[in-house]
Amino acid sequence: MRQVSSGKFPKVRMRRLREHPVMRKLVQETHLSLHQLVMPYFVLKGKGIRQPINAMPGQFRFSTDTLLKELDKLQRNHISSILLFGIPEKKDKTGAGASERGGVVQKTVREIKKRFPDLFVMTDVCLCAYTNHGHCGVLKANGQIDNDKSLKMLAQTAVSHAEAGADLVAPSDMMDGRVKAIRGQLDQHEFTHIPIMSYAAKYASSFYGPFRDAAGSFPGKQKNAPQDRKSYQMNPANIREALREIELDIQEGADIVMVKPALAYLDVLREASQRFHLPLAAYSVSGEYSMVKAAQEKGYLNEKEVVPEMLLSMVRAGARVLITYFAREMASWKSDLISCK
Ligand code: PBG
Repeated sequence: MRQVSSGKFPKVRMRRLREHPVMRKLVQETHLSLHQLVMPYFVLKGKGIRQPINAMPGQFRFSTDTLLKELDKLQRNHISSILLFGIPEKKDKTGAGASERGGVVQKTVREIKKRFPDLFVMTDVCLCAYTNHGHCGVLKANGQIDNDKSLKMLAQTAVSHAEAGADLVAPSDMMDGRVKAIRGQLDQHEFTHIPIMSYAAKYASSFYGPFRDAAGSFPGKQKNAPQDRKSYQMNPANIREALREIELDIQEGADIVMVKPALAYLDVLREASQRFHLPLAAYSVSGEYSMVKAAQEKGYLNEKEVVPEMLLSMVRAGARVLITYFAREMASWKSDLISCK
């Protein structure tokens, strides 16, 4: 679109619309609302546990009981959705624990929905925390990831989350065909109303480091297994491929598609928002969180100012749903850039 200008300086003065604070608000093009934020939480089995996560200052691994206490304190009138990650006791070759009815995620979802029925509970659907090799799918004897065998496990996991009361499932494994497999199984089990938010364009990113520390999900803990996720997560150099991934997930039945990480992939968000007409999510990942926390601790940056600025860039790029570890804290920040409505 070409802008027709009404003239030039001195007739045109851009600063006129920036002089008065109300004027600035009136012409503000995008807004960041607390209601778009999703707060991630890590849960593990046990009682009374609230373990600080080393690489993510201010974040904890909770047992179900302490998470309930934490959610009691969460300003749920502002932060109304959470995303759960499970850290199981046992890991095995196929990640069988991911779909157990009594698994830590399933149990925690049940408890949360009993206590806080209005809280919107999303669950991450993946195998990496449940496999002893740390990969997001089942391994073949030759060390390759068995895509199609993994689909069954992922679909069962999604159904077990829905049965426990999850309001939305979010597959993060990057196996081909998983959205279709999950939609099919959800529908067969009468969960036609449960939306899928797919991690559609998920990059093989080093920004996930702190998360893997938190969840104990580093790949390649075994000799014959790949040491990275590059055979299923995307090459950071590619954007055309991301659009194809997103398109395929939409065709398979995704309701919301996600780009992850966010800050280093704003071009992908932008392009996706122009091409596709379903809601876009941006996952501001653990590394983005920890970078800001480190700078905050050193006194180099003020997190209360830079975080809203970072998140607004995602909104500007076209994201609607924002997943950020800052969500809980942000509810108490007073900022011109954050709206409570
Ligand atoms: C599991 C999963 C990961 C993240 C979300 N789901 C880690 C990974 O793919 O290794 C990363 C989240 C973050 O860094 O905040 N597949």
